[in-house]
Amino acid sequence: MGLNDQTRRQEWWRHAVTYQIYPRSFADGNGDGVGDLPGITSRLPYLRDLGVDAIWLSPFYTSPQRDHGYDVADYRDIDPLFGTLSDADDMIERAHELGLKVIVDLVPNHTSSEHEWFRAALAAGPGSPERDRYVFRDAGPDGSLPNNWMSVFGGPAWTQAPAGPGEKEQYYLHLFDSSQPDLNWRNPEVGDMFVEVLRFWLDRGVDGFRVDVAHGLFKEEGLRDQVVEAGRTASSDARDAADVPMVERTLRDEPMWDQPEVHDVYRRWHEVLAKYDGDRMFVAEAWTQTPESMAAYVRPDEFSQAFNFAWLLASWSAEEFAEVVRGTMEAVGLVGGSPTWVLSNHDVVRHVTRYGGGALGLARAKAATLTMLALPGSAYLYQGEELGLPEVDVAAEHKQDPLFIRTGEGGRDGCRVPIPWSGAAAPYGFGPGGEQPWIPQPDDWAPVTVEAETGDADSTLEFYRAALAARRTFATSAGDDVELLELGADVVAFRRGPVTAVLNCGTEPVALPAGSVFLASGPVGDTLPPDTAAWLR
Ligand code: NOJ
Repeated sequence: MGLNDQTRRQEWWRHAVTYQIYPRSFADGNGDGVGDLPGITSRLPYLRDLGVDAIWLSPFYTSPQRDHGYDVADYRDIDPLFGTLSDADDMIERAHELGLKVIVDLVPNHTSSEHEWFRAALAAGPGSPERDRYVFRDAGPDGSLPNNWMSVFGGPAWTQAPAGPGEKEQYYLHLFDSSQPDLNWRNPEVGDMFVEVLRFWLDRGVDGFRVDVAHGLFKEEGLRDQVVEAGRTASSDARDAADVPMVERTLRDEPMWDQPEVHDVYRRWHEVLAKYDGDRMFVAEAWTQTPESMAAYVRPDEFSQAFNFAWLLASWSAEEFAEVVRGTMEAVGLVGGSPTWVLSNHDVVRHVTRYGGGALGLARAKAATLTMLALPGSAYLYQGEELGLPEVDVAAEHKQDPLFIRTGEGGRDGCRVPIPWSGAAAPYGFGPGGEQPWIPQPDDWAPVTVEAETGDADSTLEFYRAALAARRTFATSAGDDVELLELGADVVAFRRGPVTAVLNCGTEPVALPAGSVFLASGPVGDTLPPDTAAWLR
């Protein structure tokens, strides 16, 4: 499988390893128990030494924090919780001094209900130009909802707007929390505002954007009901598919996602970015249903990249992993895009835990990571995975995720627990003093702090450092062609340039192909043990 010439261009992001920072949980500079920009700036040398090329920061803009910043009230300012615009400038400058690129998060599908536009929309009433920036619809004669769409966070995707005396009753659409009203992208004011926001951050020197819910924005005209398969609920989130094996998935009806009009927006943004120097990029968070629909976002005049969630959704199965590699390479190759790989982020259960937890989960997580780092394209890491952190079982009284608040179940707090930096007890050096962080850390994290793992040759951290260093020496020169090898039903194996990567997802040791092992995710002898990956040359 090969990619075409276009992908062989050398823009920095095509081969980058990008480290995702969840600002409230990375490092606390001022001792209020919540991570912030000065905390991040102080830890940038750690990331340079880890060996990543870029950082992506989840939102730090002015926000009531109902969805921890994915509810933006002002796209051009910093929430006081995280610092000031000058702190952002300092962070960008320091990152650049250290040779790290900076990607910021852009949230265009919805604003916060505290955004001045939404306040104005509520005040102005039905039929007003202010309401036309969002998706307001009249209630049915019996007060019923405009359609059957459900919020990704549970419950209906519609909330009633307060009605003044004599005013029609209206609902507004929110595909996420009721504090995150969806914008109406058919109103040109919306598109113009986001171009200004892009320029604002490009002018401040950011190297790229991660675009939240990039497959959202446009809804099918007419807002018809979603056709829901028997046995499923009318939930609109592709993450629902996580429990269905990749190979057996059927496509769902999604009038609220992935509409053709959205691509015009990204063509416009592509032009905006192209006017700036230095290979500015943007990466789509698009939970589309197939590799082909994902690839549409990375056509030459659209996004630079899209997250490849198929890799993250694959279960511990050689068949599934190999199928994702094949499908991804084919799909992005067709449009001249470049592939991406990701195993964890702030929305999903950490991969150590997804793969079984404990020593087994950790062994598998390291093996999957090593396999991912051998693939062409770029890789995204999530803070704390380099320490081998598992998902934390957060007590209900500490959970803050709107998903939990709306449904009373689950929630994403368990992957958002603050990073343990040093010391033997919480807060493990998270802040300057002994303040406990916004969400409690487990009391058995002393062995997984950065301090404890540094210099320990068997630690997950040193494994990541070694893998990232080794990847640097071949990632840009090994080419983008991948040849999948047949080494048995439980094995994923491929050759890329001088490197052969082998992953054993089975329960028996397997014979290694020719070559010498130069890096492995665990102990390797003449054969490759189960739950282990190796690189050979
Ligand atoms: C995707 C983000 O990654 C997630 O954290 C957020 O809750 C939703 N988009 C809504 O913005």
